[in-house]
This record gives sequence, C-alpha cells and structure tokens, in this order.
Amino acid sequence: MSGGLLRSHTCGELRSSDVGSEVTLCGWVNKYRDLGSLHFIDIRDRYGLTQLGFENFKGDFAVLKQCSLESVILAKGIVQARPSDALNKKMDTGEVEIQVTHLEVLSRCDIDNLPFLPNGSVESTEDLKLKYRYLDLRTKKLQDVLKLRSKVMHDTRNALYDEGFTEVETPILYKSTPEGARDYVVPSRVHPNHVYALPQSPQTLKQLLMIGGTDKYFQLCRCFRDEDLRHDRQPEFTQIDIEVSFTTPEYIKALVEKTLGSLFEINDLKIPAMSFQEAMARYGSDKPDVRFGLEHIILTDLFIDSEFAVLSKPAKEGGMVKAFFVPEEVKTFSRKETDAFVEVVKPHGGKGVAFFKVKDGERSAGISKFITDDIMKSIEEKAVEKGDGTWLFFADTDEDTVHSCADALRKYLGHSLELLGDENKFLWIYDFPLFEYSKKEGRLAARHHPFTMPKEEHLEMYLEGGVENWKKCLANAYDVVCNGYELGGGSIRIHRNDIQTTMFKALEMTEEDTQKQFGFFLEALKYGVPPHGGLAFGLDRIIMIMCKTESIRDVIAFPKTNSASDLMSSTPSMPAQAQLDELHMNWQKK
Ligand code: AMO
Repeated sequence: MSGGLLRSHTCGELRSSDVGSEVTLCGWVNKYRDLGSLHFIDIRDRYGLTQLGFENFKGDFAVLKQCSLESVILAKGIVQARPSDALNKKMDTGEVEIQVTHLEVLSRCDIDNLPFLPNGSVESTEDLKLKYRYLDLRTKKLQDVLKLRSKVMHDTRNALYDEGFTEVETPILYKSTPEGARDYVVPSRVHPNHVYALPQSPQTLKQLLMIGGTDKYFQLCRCFRDEDLRHDRQPEFTQIDIEVSFTTPEYIKALVEKTLGSLFEINDLKIPAMSFQEAMARYGSDKPDVRFGLEHIILTDLFIDSEFAVLSKPAKEGGMVKAFFVPEEVKTFSRKETDAFVEVVKPHGGKGVAFFKVKDGERSAGISKFITDDIMKSIEEKAVEKGDGTWLFFADTDEDTVHSCADALRKYLGHSLELLGDENKFLWIYDFPLFEYSKKEGRLAARHHPFTMPKEEHLEMYLEGGVENWKKCLANAYDVVCNGYELGGGSIRIHRNDIQTTMFKALEMTEEDTQKQFGFFLEALKYGVPPHGGLAFGLDRIIMIMCKTESIRDVIAFPKTNSASDLMSSTPSMPAQAQLDELHMNWQKK
C-alpha cells in the first residue's frame, strides 16, 4: 500500500522494468556530486539507494545547493536506464537513475554542526553514537537489526499461537518480583510513602494466571533490573515469557526446541541435555560454549601427594585441581604467551596458570619436573584429547575459583585461536542446585528464584529443613544455552503453600516480611493450584546471537550505557521540586 504517502516508490525498489515510469522518491541525501555541468545525488532510505540525475531539470539549480548531506528531499522524475558504462552492480537499483523534473528540500540538515555522518567512512566514538542514536539508526546495519527483531517477535507470536498460547499483558507498576537484582521503584503520589516496583520479570503474575485458569500463557514483556551491567545485560530488556499448567520439563524442552527451531530456521531442532554438575566439571560454567573443545578434567585426587605445593595444597585442603589440553595442531604457545595467561585468570581470583608441554611423548617446560610417568598416565586416562601439545592447570582451595579461572582461559583461547566455527550450538542444562550460598548476605539465596520446585526425590529432605539439607537439594529448573550465553531459564514451580512457606524460611525471611511481600501469593496457593511451570527467553540475547554481535546494545533501538543512562536524553535526570512535592518526597542531595 503506497497510496497516500508522499512517495510512489522506496529508494531500494526501482529496476530496469520501471524505465519510463514517472516516480516520486523521498529520503536523505547520501552523496552529492557536482561535476560542473552534471549533478548527481544518491537518495537513501531504509530500503536502499537510488541515483538522481539532473539532465532534464528545468527548475532552479539553487535548490541543489541546499541539498547538504543528510537533508531530507523529495524528487520527482522519470526512470531512465543507465548507459552500460554507468551500471552499478553494487547497488540494487544500479541499472537505473531518475531524471529529476522536480526537487524539494523537505528538511535541510545543518551539515556544519552534524556530529557525525551516519554512513560516513570515519568511525565515531560509541558515546557519540549513543548520544545521537537517531543518526546512528540511519545506518543499514541498525535498520536491519530492527527489522530482524520485529520479525522474530512476529514469528514468536505465530509459533506460540500455533501451540494454543494466549498473550496476556501484566502490570508494570507492581510489587517486587525478586529475580536476584535490585528493584527500580516508582513513588506513589496517591499513597504517600508508598512505592511501586517495576517487575524484574512477571514471575508471580504468570503463576497467578495459571491459578486463574489461563492454562498456556505467553508475553513479550519488558523486565527491569537494577544490577551490574555487562555486554549481554541491560537494565531494561525484553523476555519471551511462557507459563504452562499441568506441564513437565519435557514439554517445556520440546516447546523450546520448536520455538527456537522456528526462530533460527532449523528443522527438527533437538537440543542436547547436560546436567549442571557435568557442565561445571567439563567446562567450569553453567552456560558452556560447546562450539569448541578444550574440555576440562578434574585432577584433584591425583595431586594430593604431589611435591608441587601449588597443586597439592589446594588438593589437600578440600579445594580443586583442574586441567585442560591444547593440542599442538591448535597452538604451540611461546613463553610470553603462557606467562600472559595470568592476566586472564586474575579477574576471577586466579593467581596463575601452571603448564607443561608434550612433544613426541617427552615432557618439558613449566611444571614438567613434577609430572611423573604415573601422573602422566592417569592424566591421559581421563583426557578427552592427548598427544603433543600443552597442558594447563588451575588450582585453588575454592572450587568456584578453579571453575571460573579454567572457564575464563578456555573461553579466551576459544575466541583468540578462532575455534568457534559458524554453527550455533544449543544446550539444555538441568539439575541446578536449588540454593546457593550468598557470602554477601551470609545466608542461602535461591539459585533460580524462590518459586522453583525442589526435585521430587529431594522434597522430603527439603521439607525436613535445615541449611545442610537445603544445600543438598536440586531444583526442577533448567536453562537453555547457546554459544556460551544463557538464552533462557525456567523451572517447574512450587504449587503448594507448605513448600513455598518453607522456601521463604530457607531464605531467612521473617514471617512479617513474607506476609508483607508475598502474603497475597501464599494465600492464592491455598485455593486450588494446577501444577505448572515455564521459562523465559531473553529476546535481546536471541537477536544478539542471530546478528553475531557481542553487544546487547547493538540490538536495542535506544539502549542504555553500562551505568544505566541514556546519553541522548540525559536520563536519569533530577526531578523538579514540584514533582518531589507531589510525591511527598524529601531528597537528600548528594
Ligand atoms: P531469568 O532471570 O533467568 O528468569 O531470565 C530469563 C532470561 O532473560 C534474559 N535476561 C536478560 N537479558 C538482558 N539483560 C538482562 N539484565 C537480563 N537478565 C536476564 C536471559 C535469561 O535467561 N522469571 C524467570 C523465568 C522463569 O522462571 O520462567 C526469569 O526471569 O536470557
């Protein structure tokens, strides 16, 4: 449908079959060439570029002088075939040009003050691009991302409608929905001293929809989390949120396979499953990137009696020793390179990376003198890969430190040695621990969220209670991982009041706090609850993977910086005194 628009065609549309037609194009001046007697303008919109020529132009040439780059113009004219020596194969419209009969400048660009040329060859800084995001959005790259994002949202809706899901919107102004981050809060004008919290996810709401009989719910929803930001995290982001009554983890996995299969256009996608424990042992991560090898092996027992204290001390003191092997065909490291590994593990609490090399069965360098034939035999028995190459070792009294250091170096080598390949590799991780110990708060915290059901075989131990029991409980929870990113996570939920009450106790919430925060929810669990479960995908991360970009900002129209600000509008900003008065707030200025 183009009737009623100022243009008859887009700038990417015209072909030789249109020669002779009278057309009107609207767009931005992408390039202007003044060759004295000949003038050319490349006009651009999100669909492409078309060349305008002015050989038949009877109007005032002064108007061309106003056509500064990035000005918005309207050009009317006749489509003409380009002479064979002027064909441009790089342009979709390169067979034609428009001989302009009428030209109007709809909005002139102040080129002298333009912060950067969106399609220019000079790369501007990330901050400048964010401050003038609307200019950066003029690039094909960002417009293509927005188009893809919109398609994925459309395809998601289609895939879930096909399975009988109903999209339901849930409130944004609500109560705290804990997902492990801080809340963004909104003060209430009508209720002095009271606040709403923006949802970290619609978790309790989607469960209430199940209690309300909705059966199969989904929503493309905004979530808000005040947490430390990283390249794959934004303070507000979009989830594909799903909840199903009377479900099993097997149903959710099959639904995930169907949904991701349709979004990534993979027929009959089957996602391999791996327990949390196996993922930690083999990769030191609950979201392993399985596009490449370099698998870890655990060697703690082997080094308890070693003379090399760096490995034996942690092994004796209840810690862990891990290693992985880099075959010679992949890389032979120089001394300088192995020395530099310490910088990779330092941010993860590592003090160094021990190593030795094998060449034609002979061990050399690093810690080789501590590696006896017996030790070597035992290592090779456990090894996934062996032969000539380099063995790398990680040891600490804290197991988590060992896992994260070995994971960090594995990932670093996977990227720097270009071992990733082109194929997206999905993984289903299950059997997560129900709790993790929060050193900061000195108590147990829910590893997924506090509405997650313990595994059936651990239910009795869970209800019996006690920190030691709770630490042993596994959760009926799962994550879907792709290329080392957590794409989605979910669980079977607690649908019994007693199990939910025990959860709040385990989290050391007082009776009063529990009632205040979740009293309404606990009450709902008394009135007939279908067993239910679900999952939420991070939409932004799905698009990131599809676009093969490493930054979540690249796939969001108006992203925030790592300090959660919007550079374009200077958000957040100081409230006006009148707003504070209305909200009954008395701020301490910092
Ligand atoms: P979870 O907290 O695991 O689960 O979130 C689900 C998915 O959302 C994405 N995600 C994020 N994406 C961008 N920026 C962030 N700050 C961010 N945080 C999370 C991830 C993640 O896998 N209510 C539960 C789901 C459930 O149990 O059904 C939840 O929110 O891709």
